[in-house]
Amino acid sequence: MRAVEWVSLACLRVGNRAGPAGWLNRLIAAGHFGSTWGSGDYLNRSGALATSSNGLASTTNTGTIRFRRKAPATNEMYRMNLSESWEAQAEQWIKWARTPGHDSYWRHHRDQFIRLLPPPGKRTVDIGCGEGRLTRHLKQLGHAVVGIDSSPSLVAAAREMDPSMAIVLANAASIPLRDKCADLAVAFMSLHDVDAMAAAVNEIARILVPGGRLCAAIVHPINSSGRFEASAADARFIIQGDYLGGFRYSQPEERGGLSMTFHSQHRPLEAYFVALEEAGLLVEALREPRVPDEAVSSPAGRRWQRLPLFLHLRARRP
Ligand SMILES: C[S@@+](CC[C@H](N)C(=O)[O-])C[C@H]1O[C@@H](n2cnc3c(N)ncnc32)[C@H](O)[C@@H]1O
Repeated sequence: MRAVEWVSLACLRVGNRAGPAGWLNRLIAAGHFGSTWGSGDYLNRSGALATSSNGLASTTNTGTIRFRRKAPATNEMYRMNLSESWEAQAEQWIKWARTPGHDSYWRHHRDQFIRLLPPPGKRTVDIGCGEGRLTRHLKQLGHAVVGIDSSPSLVAAAREMDPSMAIVLANAASIPLRDKCADLAVAFMSLHDVDAMAAAVNEIARILVPGGRLCAAIVHPINSSGRFEASAADARFIIQGDYLGGFRYSQPEERGGLSMTFHSQHRPLEAYFVALEEAGLLVEALREPRVPDEAVSSPAGRRWQRLPLFLHLRARRP
């Protein structure tokens, strides 16, 4: 049985707002998620990713978001919601993410995160799977994994790399899977890139069985709230703005001949913990992983041995 058919039979949500399960099953089995649910159409219907009328401010459960730039960005960039911004960067991201050793994922991040995961169970859902590098790794580790992402280009790239994997084009704030169909949800470096983070956490709680876990990795809110003054290992870290306020930011990076702009939302730690609390998920482990010595190649890299780049957590549905 093809993987897409397995998803449709086993975990598609009956009575989902997107339509009757039979209709959806046929679309999924025919591999039509990408073409039928274009991001604009489907995502706007969900109401979760609407951009504000002036494109300069938007609201979330944390209140009014003030857009702030960690680095120069055009206003045009901020007219797109995060989901659309990731679709616009899909080509760059595929190169960035697939170049072995290029970013922290390969050097230390993935393996530190994997240590938090419970052993494979019946079904693992990878939320914000992108082009699928972690989804493929989870499969190798023995997880029966379904990937979810809102970027049509990244979903297509993930499917192309491993056509046997079930990769669904969907908004994390409206997951087209049945209640209690998964014993593990993984959100690796995606929740800070999702516009409606609290709605996504709520959806994750819904698809987990009692006793199921969410394991998430995010940009640590300390990291996203400020910047180092200089590149020396002991440089001061400055929080210029309002840690407690949320703000959107875009961070262009160039390294090893590759360029990529990361589009994200800074939220205070509390925003994630309120979302977990309101979704009824109990945190059972939290890590602020230190960059290991072997992954540091410059004084600038050493700065991140003093402050956390990422935050990892495991939460359980009671
Ligand atoms: C930093 S990438 C991480 C991708 C992958 N987890 C990895 O580590 O390779 C963030 C991903 O979140 C996805 N994303 C953003 N908003 C989303 C939403 N509302 N629903 C689902 N995925 C979303 C983006 O398309 C992108 O693939």
